[in-house]
Amino acid sequence: MKKIRKIGIITGGGDCSGLNAVINGITKAAIKKYGLEVVGFTRGYKGLYTNAHRPLGLKSVSGIMHEGGTILKSSNKDNLFNLPIRQSDGTIEYKDVSDEAVQNLKYLGVAALIVIGGDGTLTSARDFYRKGIPVVGVPKTIDNDLPATDVTFGYNTSLETITDALDKIHTTAYSHDRVMVVEVMGRNSGWLALEGGLAGSADVILIPEIPYDINAIVEKVRERDAFGRNFTIIVVSEGAKPKDGKQVIREIVEDSADSVRLGGIGQVLTDQLQKLIPEHEVRHTNLAYIQRGGITSQFDRALGLMFGVNAVDLLMSGGAGRMVQLKGRKITSIPLDEVVGTGKVGETSKGGGKTVDPEGQHVQVAKAIGISFGEIE
Ligand code: F6P
Repeated sequence: MKKIRKIGIITGGGDCSGLNAVINGITKAAIKKYGLEVVGFTRGYKGLYTNAHRPLGLKSVSGIMHEGGTILKSSNKDNLFNLPIRQSDGTIEYKDVSDEAVQNLKYLGVAALIVIGGDGTLTSARDFYRKGIPVVGVPKTIDNDLPATDVTFGYNTSLETITDALDKIHTTAYSHDRVMVVEVMGRNSGWLALEGGLAGSADVILIPEIPYDINAIVEKVRERDAFGRNFTIIVVSEGAKPKDGKQVIREIVEDSADSVRLGGIGQVLTDQLQKLIPEHEVRHTNLAYIQRGGITSQFDRALGLMFGVNAVDLLMSGGAGRMVQLKGRKITSIPLDEVVGTGKVGETSKGGGKTVDPEGQHVQVAKAIGISFGEIE
């Protein structure tokens, strides 16, 4: 393998808190420990294709540890192995432009990439590795749905945001005797709703892994009324669905690796509940994108830094084609091939993966303290 003197960083997929901590760790370790040059491609893989990049030095990553988002910007579109290109007649044609990206890397003298992202981004990372580019992956998502790591950075900060929001919603729910429906993100995994709901003392938690019966929610509201607690907090995951019902899809983003965007179940449920419990005012809050931003938590800063520095060590010790992962309290690594996709170049993983076990400890603990999952007892 060619000696590595210059590396590139890419942040892809939906942003989250902790990305800047990873960029900070990679850049500092690359420069201080290995004497490398570092460039950051901007707006995810798009920067690799359009050759949009910036040099990253010790000064450019100074003071960014705590900041949410990514100084490199991100995109959850732009799969360079299947890029939608608008033709002059307005139609869209899909083209594999990965060779152009490889040419850009050669021209810049960038010998290796560290790619930070979720399943779509990491699938492309795997595909670039198969094209001969030394790539190391770093797992990222607020959803905590990547099975190949115990946890991703971004998840903890999102949980802090959800917990803080639930604390605030509690006081207004109490004052007005209201039923409050709070929708959170998570795609097909209920982790954000479950752990956020537990910490924020939700009364009902609805997750994709346990389809709910609306009558059980009404029952829970009435049980609380009878007990003299005339308000109820319901946390609903965007991927939750009723028994024999469907998930609510917000939109289909055609040019995205994972095109389905969930969202809107909170409003649907609120309207349905309002009819069933006219004695209460039912209100809805969608926490939406505030879950992705904000000052990064201590946990995510530390994990981001650990991932970043270990990703450089992995790359420089011949570990290309792998992704750093957290196992217990240790950072180890796993082949990208085992993390993502179905094996064909350009084919992306369908997302999801690490879901909540309906019989698992978290659900058992929640049930033990009387939290309802919308199941008829
Ligand atoms: O995967 C992270 C996530 O925030 C999901 O929880 C959510 O469903 C999705 O991204 C939203 O994507 P977009 O930024 O395209 O609306």
